[in-house]
Amino acid sequence: MTIYEIEGGKPMAGELTAQGAKNSALVLLSAALLAKDVTVLKNCPEIRDVAAQLEILQSLGCVCSREGSTVAVDATGVSSTEVPQELMRQMRSSVTLLGALLGRCGTGSIHTPGGCAIGARPIDYHLQAFADMGVVIEKEGDHLSAAMRQRKDSIVMLPFPSVGATENVMLLAARLPCTTVLSGAAREPEIVDLAKLLNQMGAVVMGAGTDTVTVRGSNCLNGAQHTVLPDRIAAATDLCAAAVTGGSLTLRSVAVRHMGAAIEALIRSGCEIRSEEGAVFLKAPKRLSGMGILRTMPYPGFPTDLQAPFVTLAATAEGDSVMVENMFENRYQHVPQLHRMGADISVSGRVALVRGRPLHGGQVEAEDLRGGAALLLAGLGAEGNTKVHDAQHCIERGYERITERWNSIGASIRVQSLA
Ligand code: EPZ
Repeated sequence: MTIYEIEGGKPMAGELTAQGAKNSALVLLSAALLAKDVTVLKNCPEIRDVAAQLEILQSLGCVCSREGSTVAVDATGVSSTEVPQELMRQMRSSVTLLGALLGRCGTGSIHTPGGCAIGARPIDYHLQAFADMGVVIEKEGDHLSAAMRQRKDSIVMLPFPSVGATENVMLLAARLPCTTVLSGAAREPEIVDLAKLLNQMGAVVMGAGTDTVTVRGSNCLNGAQHTVLPDRIAAATDLCAAAVTGGSLTLRSVAVRHMGAAIEALIRSGCEIRSEEGAVFLKAPKRLSGMGILRTMPYPGFPTDLQAPFVTLAATAEGDSVMVENMFENRYQHVPQLHRMGADISVSGRVALVRGRPLHGGQVEAEDLRGGAALLLAGLGAEGNTKVHDAQHCIERGYERITERWNSIGASIRVQSLA
């Protein structure tokens, strides 16, 4: 259990550097499995999910090492195609290892990741896409074995722009000596980052970032060196910390072009924002304003991973806001916790009506990664002390040294790690 004790009401001011993107690093590590030798990732965030993915790669026979923010994966000697169940449970996003294993070895086995705090998280789009690409899948309970039966040119159509399914198709296709056309693809920046690495490894990926991605694969891919793109979600969460405390922040090493929806929402809340190549400057008003209606959508729409942090900003603002969570069916777990701090939020299905008011400190529990960050933000913006109990260490899964970084610009967060 980790307990974050926050003394609220202190305006933050200073400069931070954005971390590398969790949701890019994880799929790039899956891609490293495709190479016949060593892949090096720079700007790889030091977070629990990356450590878990490295542990899985090692269990498959890779040799992994880290030096600061640089990670190396030697995939010369892949010796297993079964992702261990206990490791898979820790991190459902390792489902993209299935596409990499199929591409590298022609077979792969996982335990279906199952649901998590925010929703059922099915993988039916992934499995249908694999079947369209000539993969045969056998399921026994939650154990799933997949095998390439016929390497062939394929056309795959996704019914929804699923990020993970798009990535899984690209990983498998990159290692097949044929052409795969994927329509209905997700357009997230992390997809473009993956395409860059796959192209450096010797595949030919075109159209990443649009809804149609074409992959000409190869049955031999080389290791490569790649710098992970900045984390647009963690960067926006840093901006939210300055915003909720009426402070100011200079945030460097960010990809501003990936943060349009978040920046637009912060401006709507009354923040002044300026940007130049690679940096964002935010100055918040003493108290934020209501933001009207925010709807989570696939990229480039408002990101679902920022829904919880922005519900916190809205909860402390002067005025009302409405949040519509279109991506996941159970992603308001932070709301009952915010109620304990005096928030006036009513949820009906996917819609949360937030009537802003000052919050007071309280004892709250983090149930998931982004909800946990939202509770830290609430503690920063509330009057008095807040304790965020994080039994599953959710926050450390995705935010690199969050308390050290936020304390360096004026926050007062004490961390207790209990057994
Ligand atoms: C990725 O999850 C991210 N995770 C999520 O971030 C992010 O919220 C999500 O994309 C949406 O942007 C990683 O990249 C590791 P999806 P993913 O497939 O790929 C449904 C975080 O906090 N769906 O785009 O799992 C699904 O249930 C995490 O960093 C199916 O029905 O998301 C959801 O409702 C949370 N069948 C919607 O599609 C499928 O086969 C979008 O899911 C696949 C998905």
